[in-house]
Amino acid sequence: MLSAHLIRNLRNASKLASVAGPNADRIVNVKWSDGKTGEFPLIWLRDTSPDAATYTISPAMTARNLTMLEFDVEQKARKLWIDGDGDSLKIEWDSGVLSTFPSEWLQMRNPSDQEARKRRRKVYLFPEETWGKEEIEKKLKRFSHEEFMKNDRVVHDFLEAVCIDGIAVLKGAPQGARGAIEAIGDRIGMIKRTHFGIVFEVSTKADASNMAYASNGGLPFHTDFPSLSHPPQLQMLHMLQSAEEGGNSLFVDGFHVAEQLRVENPEVFRILTTHSMEYIEEGYDIHEINGKEFRFDYDMCARHKVIRLNDEGKVNKIQFGNAMRSWFYDCEPNQVQNVYRAMKTFTDHCYQPRNVLKFRLEDGDTVLWANQRLLHTRDGFKNAPGKSRTLTGCYFDWDIVKSRVRHLRDKLELEQNQPSA
Ligand code: OGA
Ligand code: ZN
Repeated sequence: MLSAHLIRNLRNASKLASVAGPNADRIVNVKWSDGKTGEFPLIWLRDTSPDAATYTISPAMTARNLTMLEFDVEQKARKLWIDGDGDSLKIEWDSGVLSTFPSEWLQMRNPSDQEARKRRRKVYLFPEETWGKEEIEKKLKRFSHEEFMKNDRVVHDFLEAVCIDGIAVLKGAPQGARGAIEAIGDRIGMIKRTHFGIVFEVSTKADASNMAYASNGGLPFHTDFPSLSHPPQLQMLHMLQSAEEGGNSLFVDGFHVAEQLRVENPEVFRILTTHSMEYIEEGYDIHEINGKEFRFDYDMCARHKVIRLNDEGKVNKIQFGNAMRSWFYDCEPNQVQNVYRAMKTFTDHCYQPRNVLKFRLEDGDTVLWANQRLLHTRDGFKNAPGKSRTLTGCYFDWDIVKSRVRHLRDKLELEQNQPSA
């Protein structure tokens, strides 16, 4: 659906001046009175025609009614014309169906307009820039927990910041509120359950199932769960009881480190983008599910490249956790030394002061971040007498988080809203 805001903006869209075609490539050429032009594939116009026979649009569903099995991809138009003094393009199809495309509808979807395509790509909420210490210290967004719980705009802004910057913070939940993490999870949508349960607790425990629970010591920079073939994409931690000393949270933008390596150490970049590491996680975790104690035994094993590139060569995933790295290197023995050199250089870059964001989570603070982009750690800590540093945490996947952002853009009629159909 188009938001009212967008409709208002597009109301000022100029009038349609002329239509020509389709040409031999079955392209319809449209001109607007302000000189703008558009190339619209004829079959696409039939397929996306904004009418009730083509689409079902109800509050519960937006779906195309046409089936590809029956759809004639060679179908022709009987007649094309500009209607209503330039307000819309009309097409009468050979089948007799009549389509009406308002001027603003065409303008915002114009496939030959690079600006329109760029605007549409923002729907994926991909980060546009990576950060080092200086940048993130300037732009790290912090919101009030209380505002987040009652104001949808704050939910939108918080989650949008997590999508773009990879991290954002909520400040000041009521102290000791054990349910805070679930309450935040409900506001976001759906927590992702893992073999550590729905919500896990980070505190120093006997018989620890994770290095973070094993001691009060610092941890190495890591992403969570490289042992899974589909690790959770986001991680959230909420501070219930902070340490008396230390226990600070540290983050590094793995995308930024990867870009530095691409330029400063191309051989290391090549190894980390082409050689997969194997990770294991064997043990058990005892946690509560539906009010009952539940023991889950596991033997996880997965392989990832430390730096994964997408088809366009852009960095789109970082996975690394030294504690879970296994013994297996699926390569010739004489390549192994260089693989270690590459992991070492990557780790050294993660720790370079120009890259590290360090802050302290106070009691009641929450941090949400992109687990397949940022590496995280904490430094060592000392507890106050009789107290134990305790956090609760959970995971999310991007689809749920981004769906929430898009839904709120629609509901709150924000200017970034984009139509689904
Ligand atoms: C974790 C972790 C950090 C902390 O539980 O995954 O890295 O601050 N914890 O204890
Ligand atoms: Zn961790």
